[in-house]
Amino acid sequence: MINDKKVLFSGMQATGNLTLGNYLGALKNWVKLSDEYECFYCVVDEHSITVRQDPATLRKRARALLTLYIAAGLDPEKNCIYYQSHVSGHAELAWILNCFTYMGELNRMTQFKDKSAKHADNINAGLFTYPVLMAADILLFQADVVPVGIDQKQHLEITRDIAQRFNSIYGDVFTIPEPYIGKSGARIMSLQDPSKKMSKSDENPNGSIYLMDDPDTIMRKCKRAVTDSEGHICYRDEQPGVKNLIDIYSSCTGKTPEDVEKEFDGKGYGDFKLAVGEAVVSQLKPLQEEVARLEKDKAFIDSVIKNNAEKAAYYANKTLRKVQRKVGFPDRIR
Ligand code: TRP
Repeated sequence: MINDKKVLFSGMQATGNLTLGNYLGALKNWVKLSDEYECFYCVVDEHSITVRQDPATLRKRARALLTLYIAAGLDPEKNCIYYQSHVSGHAELAWILNCFTYMGELNRMTQFKDKSAKHADNINAGLFTYPVLMAADILLFQADVVPVGIDQKQHLEITRDIAQRFNSIYGDVFTIPEPYIGKSGARIMSLQDPSKKMSKSDENPNGSIYLMDDPDTIMRKCKRAVTDSEGHICYRDEQPGVKNLIDIYSSCTGKTPEDVEKEFDGKGYGDFKLAVGEAVVSQLKPLQEEVARLEKDKAFIDSVIKNNAEKAAYYANKTLRKVQRKVGFPDRIR
């Protein structure tokens, strides 16, 4: 608990262009949770280098992501918004936790299997221990809840296992975190292949709406979205393309899928896609404007980066010192 509130931790990688899926599925929900919890929202740049990155691009994207967190409505006075690499406790705790994690456990991680198939020329140790760094992120702040997509659930389970293992040896050191999997609208699928998640690394740019896409591009991508030959707007698994568009429309407008079915009863896909496009445009416009405004305010963003890294380091060090003592590292001389 911090300030009588439960602690929430989450993070995103600054690799690839962020999509509407990242916004509707994650960021928008983070904003809703930010009153109820004491929140740490991290830009996890240390995770990013498990795959080779161009340094200048990574730096630029990290700043853009941090700016986006704020533009999306996370008040940096209330939420701790910071770079993972600015708080050394992440890497330090990850080292210790590495010594409490088994090779066999890490070998079972499906994301490791997927990523090593995709990057067969660079299966580095960091890619393998990625979940341990993620466990360190979470446990460092004694987080109670962790909003994640379904694809990260296995990493949260290993985090809990590591924490429980550590606690069973050394006593109650870590809070055991709970996953928080958002509900509907949480999983936005590709516009070109609704069986796949909308992804920032999709090779087909028409499958994803990027957060910085201009209105024409958004309208074009919506119009081209893959549907089916049923011809009616129904929210059901047999019509995955239409279902996904309903999810997008619902998330943007706040209407329920049933309302959307009624609204478009008897109408064609053309009309519906137009409405979806317009809803997305009006959802993203204020966000894009706020990003543009914040990007100009360099001093403000810099102050957020500095102050929040200090705040995060303060809480991180509390946990880290305790853990270091438990495992038998010598006390610091003050
Ligand atoms: N692995 C997460 C992802 O790719 C990002 C992440 C890193 C994260 N550390 C975290 C998410 C801690 C939640 C909590 O989506």
